[in-house]
Amino acid sequence: MKIFKEKNYDKMSERAAHIIAAEVISNPKCLLGLATGSTPEGLYAKLVEWCDQGIVDFSKVRTVNLDEYKGLPKENDQSYYYFMNDKLFSHVNIDKKNTHLPDGTIEDADAACKKYDEVMEEQGEIAIQLLGLGHNGHIGFNEPSNGFSVGTNCVELQASTIEANKRFFEKEEDVPRFAYTMGIGSIMKAKKILLVANGEGKAEILHSALTGPVTPKVPASILQLHPNVVVVADEAAMKYFK
Ligand code: GLP
Repeated sequence: MKIFKEKNYDKMSERAAHIIAAEVISNPKCLLGLATGSTPEGLYAKLVEWCDQGIVDFSKVRTVNLDEYKGLPKENDQSYYYFMNDKLFSHVNIDKKNTHLPDGTIEDADAACKKYDEVMEEQGEIAIQLLGLGHNGHIGFNEPSNGFSVGTNCVELQASTIEANKRFFEKEEDVPRFAYTMGIGSIMKAKKILLVANGEGKAEILHSALTGPVTPKVPASILQLHPNVVVVADEAAMKYFK
């Protein structure tokens, strides 16, 4: 595991964006695994900037996203579909037909998960999977549980996740209670994983995920078993690393 400790959020974003840009430059048709949340916003902004400057070309890039709230229409500004378009897809020269997210508007969870697994199967190997980190150690929306998920699954969000994500909604009741997420098994199949974390609020969970026991109670701890993980975090999030 390679760990980059960066001075602040901006430097973290720049480093992570460089890693993704390098992949796209060396493999223009690559499949990127993308993430939402506040952590990757800065790195998406850098990629938009570099695309504008002609440094990175997304015209052949394909993407799969980690997760989506169940029940939010695509035009809802809290859907991850909206987020990805708003932060990245609408500002770079990507072909939107090549971008994929779980479909949160499908009511039947089994059908939604099966459909997304088929999409992932069709797209093939993820060159880099970007991950943020939930306060309880979740990756995608894979919450702490008694076992690691394999394929796409429908998750009931835990109270702490609803609490953490309510800041984006008008009121807590508006936060969806369920989400579709790529499974841990699919995440672990990515060729490379890029985990980003910033701020003191992530310090404890980052430390236990990367140095504590590998357990489904801390889903991100499984990353310790992946052969090609790059962690990019700011100093505040790295507080407990010597
Ligand atoms: C959400 C997303 C995760 C993300 C996490 C952390 O729950 N499903 O993919 O990593 O939040 O979000 P943030 O980056 O805002 O701390």
